[in-house]
Amino acid sequence: MGNIGAERFLPAEISLPALRDAARCCEGCDLYRNATQTVFGDGAPDARYMLVGEQPGDQEDHQGAPFVGPAGRMLDKALEEAGIDRETVYVTNAVKHFKFEPRGKRRIHQKPTAAEIDACRPWLNAEMLLVDPAVTLVLGATAARALLGPSFLVTRHRGEPIPRREGAYYVATIHPSAILRAPDRDTAYAGFLADLKVAATLA
Ligand code: URA
Ligand code: SF4
Repeated sequence: MGNIGAERFLPAEISLPALRDAARCCEGCDLYRNATQTVFGDGAPDARYMLVGEQPGDQEDHQGAPFVGPAGRMLDKALEEAGIDRETVYVTNAVKHFKFEPRGKRRIHQKPTAAEIDACRPWLNAEMLLVDPAVTLVLGATAARALLGPSFLVTRHRGEPIPRREGAYYVATIHPSAILRAPDRDTAYAGFLADLKVAATLA
């Protein structure tokens, strides 16, 4: 059925543990039906950096934690190279259930729709409010849609500090999975790293 949204599944008490717990039972859109579990954000509650991806992938869906698969390894490598300590980072996704199409034994990632992004946004909004990071790294078009609106173009504005509130910024960049798919991986990675280095100067 339709997208009633996550709002009515939010807990009365707004804390990260309460949110994480409540999100397990979210039925705010149809994506909970086929996924294994809700993959909520993870990291330091007082993180200086918030990293927002698209949605959990195959491995994240099984393990229940964000960015633990191939994209996560790419991300970890770039964070280290940019001098961003993983301990100072909170990692999450715009959409918290894995969307896929079964193909034989494999599960092929599918892009979430605008309606699914909107349905899931209350969780992300609450995480943003509680963690209140100095820098929010917006990883790819889905996260950009959730945080910066449908008309924001990552290709045009990547690597630019975008004010969020006094002393806090968004920096948009490509999704780490895009590096894995790029015809020229080295160039794609170099661009990603350059954007992360901008973020590192802001926190
Ligand atoms: N891609 C994402 O956007 N998020 C994850 O957690 C894993 C892969
Ligand atoms: Fe709820 Fe988001 Fe999962 Fe949809 S994707 S069921 S809104 S947690």
